[in-house]
Amino acid sequence: MPKPRQLLSGRLALITGANRGIGLAIARALGREGCNLVITGRDTRALSKAGRELEKFGVSVLVQVCDVRDLHSVDCLFTLVRSLRKPLDFLINNAGVGHPNRRVSELPYPMWAEVIDTNLNGMFLVTQAALAVMKRGSTIVNNLSIAAERVFPGSAAYNASKHGALGFTNTLREELRPKGIRVIALMPGATDTAIWETLWPKAPRRKMMPAETVANVVVNALLVPENSAVENVVVMPTTGTL
Ligand SMILES: NC(=O)c1ccc[n+]([C@@H]2O[C@H](COP(=O)([O-])OP(=O)(O)OC[C@H]3O[C@@H](n4cnc5c(N)ncnc54)[C@H](OP(=O)(O)O)[C@@H]3O)[C@@H](O)[C@H]2O)c1
Repeated sequence: MPKPRQLLSGRLALITGANRGIGLAIARALGREGCNLVITGRDTRALSKAGRELEKFGVSVLVQVCDVRDLHSVDCLFTLVRSLRKPLDFLINNAGVGHPNRRVSELPYPMWAEVIDTNLNGMFLVTQAALAVMKRGSTIVNNLSIAAERVFPGSAAYNASKHGALGFTNTLREELRPKGIRVIALMPGATDTAIWETLWPKAPRRKMMPAETVANVVVNALLVPENSAVENVVVMPTTGTL
């Protein structure tokens, strides 16, 4: 095993939706670099398990149950973050859901609303709260998808949430540019996680990237010097779309 580089030692990251999947992989990759972590999700057991695992990197790991759709829940999360009395160096807006394949004519409104509420409104709520504890030199990573720039029939709510989140991300980047806070639009292609159980249960997993690939790309993007920024990250399986 190569010796860990610990290039983010003493920094602080908040990752939403980090009890599994891409969020947990990003938490691992940051922890490996010595970054202190606040991880969130709704499933308490999975979150505690992830927290115990991440402590092996010898970094501080705080776990906080948080539903990004809920303003009160997000308030509680940031009460915890503020209690650390340290600026937040990295916000990774990763929490997200998909929905089963349904044409617009058959898409139930509650399904539409849940996806928009989580992927778009949740990103707004967490980001707005985080800005109060972020300083020059910090970075926000918004985990979008290639569905932020192209569309997949049967996934209208997912496509719309990610297109909206890209518009939000691009606006945020310009607003934060004078403040020296970087904003990265992360647009992965198919990645082998639990989200596919909802999106397309029989999707060919062998064609997907492991979540670790996306996580390593994110950490490398965070490591570029503070006076430069990787603004858009598109990372795809070499096979392309499924
Ligand atoms: N997998 C892919 O192919 C792919 C490609 C491009 C982009 N993405 C994006 O990557 C992100 C992570 O997805 P994943 O693929 O890693 O799927 P995943 O394994 O299902 O992870 C989703 C994460 O989001 C959390 N989450 C969902 N709803 C939440 C809510 N209301 N409040 C707080 N946390 C919530 C989940 O935890 P709880 O359920 O416990 O809350 C879980 O930790 C999503 O934004 C997704 O759109 C995925």
